[in-house]
Order: sequence, then C-alpha cells, then structure tokens
Amino acid sequence: MNGKRLLLIVSGGIAAYKSLELIRRLRERGAAVRCVLTAGGAQFVTPLSLAALTEEKVHCELFSLTDESEMGHIQLSRSADLLVVAPASADILAKMAHGLADDLASTVLLATDTPVLVAPAMNVRMWQHPATRANLALLEQRGVHRVGPNEGDMACGEYGPGRMAEPDEIVAAISGLLEPGSGRLAGRRAVVTSGPTHEPIDPVRYIANRSSGKQGHAIAAALARLGAETHLVTGPTIEPDPPGVAVSHVVTARDMLAACEAALPADIAVCAAAVADWRAATEAEQKVKKRGKAPPELKLVENPDILATLSAAGNRRPALVVGFAAETESVVKHAQAKLAKKGCDWIVANDVSAGSGTFGGDANTVHLIRADGVEDWPSMSKQAVGDRLAAAIADHLDGSRS
Ligand SMILES: Cc1cc2nc3c(=O)[nH]c(=O)nc-3n(C[C@H](O)[C@H](O)[C@H](O)COP(=O)(O)O)c2cc1C
Repeated sequence: MNGKRLLLIVSGGIAAYKSLELIRRLRERGAAVRCVLTAGGAQFVTPLSLAALTEEKVHCELFSLTDESEMGHIQLSRSADLLVVAPASADILAKMAHGLADDLASTVLLATDTPVLVAPAMNVRMWQHPATRANLALLEQRGVHRVGPNEGDMACGEYGPGRMAEPDEIVAAISGLLEPGSGRLAGRRAVVTSGPTHEPIDPVRYIANRSSGKQGHAIAAALARLGAETHLVTGPTIEPDPPGVAVSHVVTARDMLAACEAALPADIAVCAAAVADWRAATEAEQKVKKRGKAPPELKLVENPDILATLSAAGNRRPALVVGFAAETESVVKHAQAKLAKKGCDWIVANDVSAGSGTFGGDANTVHLIRADGVEDWPSMSKQAVGDRLAAAIADHLDGSRS
C-alpha cells in the first residue's frame, strides 16, 4: 500500500478503539492515513490518539474557519484513494444512504466520487433492523464496499452479527480494493458452495439440515482476499454476502449444481455446502393435509452429487477440487473413503456430532485429507479455517504453476 492515501472516518461506536490498531497496520504497510472523527466517534476515541498515530491533523468540524481555508471538506474528500468508514455506525450508514450532510463526515461522504469501504459495527438488533438492512442494500447497490460485520459476543453483552471486522480483515479488504490482482490467487477463479439446501415436500414444507453457511462464506471471503475471482453459490442462510465475491442464491441441490456448472471454468472448487443427499420424489402442488389415520408416505430420490460431478467435469474440471465431509463418527476414516469415492483432490473433514458445536458455531476443528496424508488442524475460528485453507490452496497452485 506504499504511497496510498486513505481517509479514515471514525464514527460513534464502541469499536472505534479498533480503528487505532487499524491505523497502525495501515501505516506499517506504507499507507498515509488522515482521519475525520464524528461527534459520536469523539465519545469513544480522542482526536489526540488519532493524530498521534496518523501524524496528521484530525478533522472534526464542518464549520471550521481554519480547516476550511487549509484543507476544506471538498478537498479532504478528494485527496484520498479510498474513504474508509470504520466503525460505520447505524447512524452514519443511514445518513450516507439518504444523502444527509449535517456534519463533516457525512458532508465529505456526499461530496466525493472516491470509492468508499464501510466496516459496520453495531448492536445485533440495530444491524438486523429493517431500516439498517434497507440502508445497507441501497449503499451496496450504489457500489459502496463493505467488510463485515462478524458474528460474536458484543460489547453490550448480546451475541450475533454486528461486531466490526478485525483490523486485519479491514486491511485485507482495503488492499483488495486498492491493489486488485495483487494477491497470491490473483488471476485464479474459484467456485465455493455454502449453506444447506432446502428440498421442497409441498409449498410449505421442506427437507433441510443445520448448516449455517458460516464456513463456506468464510472460505469464499478468504479466497477473495487472496485475489481469486470468487463465485459463491449458497443455499438459504442468514449469513451476509462476503465482500468482493459474486454470489448466486439458490434453494435446492439441483439449483446449486446448475449454478456451479454455470460458474465454470474455474481453477478451484470448494464444496462446503451441506447438500441434501435426497429430495422428495414428488413435490405436492398443494399443502399435504392430514387424511385418515396413517401419515403420508414420503418417498425420497437421490439428489445430484455436486462434488462428484465437478470432480468428473472432464476438461472443465477445476485444477483443484476440495470437498467437505461432515461426519458424526470415525471422522477421518469416513472422509478418506469419501476422497476415494468422489474423485476430488482434498477433503476437509469436520466433526458435526451433537456437542461439537460445529453447525452454527464460530469454531471448527478440521482435518485436511489429501491422497498423501492427513493434517490435523487445531480448533480455530471458521474464518481462520478459511484463511488457512485459502493459503494451502495458494501453496498448492504455486507448486503446480512452477
Ligand atoms: C456506549 C455506547 C455505545 C454505542 N455503540 C454503538 C455502536 O457500536 N454502533 C452504532 O451504530 N451506534 C452506537 N452507539 C450509538 C451512536 O453513538 C449514536 O447513534 C451516535 O449518534 C452516532 O453518531 P455518528 O454516527 O455521527 O458518529 C453507541 C452509543 C453509546 C452510548
């Protein structure tokens, strides 16, 4: 990021303390950072801390005679390569979505056509509120980039999505925007599947499973951070679309296969979705009613096998096909059998037995199974599993390049 100029807008959220670390990381990488601090932001961090870390004057006031003559709000907004709002409060997102300009930060954001990256941070209810969802959707439609938020414990004691992305994730997102094509997987294309599938029984009922999509989404985000042109095909999930990733939302296994095939050619396929093995043989057009004493019989037929299909895609087969094995017992043994049966290159095996906390949880303990051996990875966050897997993929493809 040598020589890149960033305007960091710090708004009023408890996560503002992480912005201090973000400045350090950006400066270590050679970026010049200038800060705008909102009145809300100044309740959480001081202008002095930001000034000390950036070695620049911090801008807080819109109606400032000296600032306007030295570095006016218009110039401030245009002298940067990227505007980063971190943390982005619900309030500043609302102002951005609706074109309000009642303080320096919102005015700068309205007076610019420089790309903008937001790192939202707020209480889970604020994040899930329809007003915030609609504001975000509007901003994303207009091309505003987003990193996070992550799910986890919140400063307010609640749990859920709303935690600001970690400084390293924000740095990676900035680097992806300012230096596209610079990552280890630049020039590579990846297809990733994620989440469960829903197989309809009738208009109101379906067969599903407990997959949350967290692991698959984290892998897609990690591949994109390394510069891969990434296409995520996801079943129904509440996970937000990862930044910098093309996303197809599908429902059934058949839709998922069609979307994966449409996303080929690719160098990498990672099949992390928990695809339903079976679907109802027929889908009733009307809701199935209780009739008589006997419950209706549910006939199942097998769904297409996406991993096996991509592994046998002939000249359209990705160079590296990675499957996931969710097992409840003999995890490694079953996964090794799956590797042989499906014709894929690697299997990431994880224990999803009751009590493992894998489905829906933030952590995962996996084993990476290749033809030549098994690597046992320690328990780590799903994001860290994504990063480590993306790095292993890059190592493998670097090896096959040379
Ligand atoms: C202790 C405390 C923590 C807060 N944390 C957040 C937060 O994380 N995210 C958020 O959107 N608002 C948060 N707020 C509310 C904002 O600070 C408030 O909406 C403010 O008007 C935002 O101003 P700004 O966006 O102009 O900086 C918090 C308020 C308090 C008192």
